[in-house]
Amino acid sequence: MIRSVVRGFGAALPKRAVANRDMEDKVATSDEWIVQRTGIRQRYIAGEGETTASLGEAAARAALENAGLVPDDIDLIILATSTPDNTFPATAVNIQDRLGIRHGAAFDLQAVCSGFVYAVTTADLYLRGGQAKRALVIGSETFSRILDWEDRTTCVLFGDGAGAIVLEAVESEGTVEDRGVLTAHLRSDGAHREKLYVDGGPSTTGTVGHLRMQGREVFKYAVGMITDVITDAFEAVDLPIEKLDWLVPHQANIRIIEGSAKKLGIPMEKVVVTVDKHGNTSAASIPLALNEAAADGRIKKGDLVLLEAMGGGFTWGSVLLRW
Ligand code: ACO
Repeated sequence: MIRSVVRGFGAALPKRAVANRDMEDKVATSDEWIVQRTGIRQRYIAGEGETTASLGEAAARAALENAGLVPDDIDLIILATSTPDNTFPATAVNIQDRLGIRHGAAFDLQAVCSGFVYAVTTADLYLRGGQAKRALVIGSETFSRILDWEDRTTCVLFGDGAGAIVLEAVESEGTVEDRGVLTAHLRSDGAHREKLYVDGGPSTTGTVGHLRMQGREVFKYAVGMITDVITDAFEAVDLPIEKLDWLVPHQANIRIIEGSAKKLGIPMEKVVVTVDKHGNTSAASIPLALNEAAADGRIKKGDLVLLEAMGGGFTWGSVLLRW
């Protein structure tokens, strides 16, 4: 059988880091409030010339270099983003062009903060179905451009950045010990779509709009939804959760991450946390965290790694893979 194996990883951040103290000049907030409620200490904000495409391209190039591949080796690009450079065409084709790739397919996937989990799941199906051989799966966001900078309840939470992995179709025995994506579980429930949304769009207002969120409502559902899809993943492969080496969660809020880990009995030593440095970068947060933990040697070949996310829609999901 074919498995989708992670062959390389990379990330890119805007040049400018913005500390919580700097947010105090923009809105009535404080470092203490932000750290205590969210765990965020700083975020990166895109400057002139930095866009979802440019950050995504940089992350993709880093992942290709890490994989020892060149752009022509790629025949599928899936970009998870809710902040495309343009309404259309897909920012993925912009990245494809920047990389000089003239074959294969490229498209955007929109599942807000769950975007990277959705994109890995989709790429895995393409690779296992024989539709492609090597996929660049990218999460890239410039949420700073859809924030209402006068709304202190949202603008302190988000940041910009990009991360990418190269997934390769590899012949495999297909046991739980073999490398690659083992199982994926995606969910959504549109009844919750007004709890976290952008108040504009091409077909309604003709504008881009700004992010709006009922923070408490999101919080109320997050831990339950996340832990459900993690339990589903371990049940599907018939492994006990104790076998997990690394939990790489979407980085929205340290209290959601700690609450989910606690409920599942996963010690925090096994959890990759980057929300303090990046804030919530939506679809980019998981590949940014993966990049950090793989680059510093925490995540090693053969480790059992679980990716999970929950976000706007609501959408939520998990991917269990052998690194
Ligand atoms: N600085 C200072 N005070 C603030 C700020 C701020 N930035 N924002 C809100 N406050 C005030 C409020 O006005 C309120 O004041 P009041 O009591 O005088 O009315 C008080 O702080 C408490 O506000 P709440 O909204 O009740 O604060 P809460 O404890 O719920 O924390 C938070 C807010 C951090 C947004 C929390 O609800 C949360 O983490 N929700 C999850 C949302 C999330 O992570 N979303 C990310 C996208 S979805 C996802 O990725 C999973």
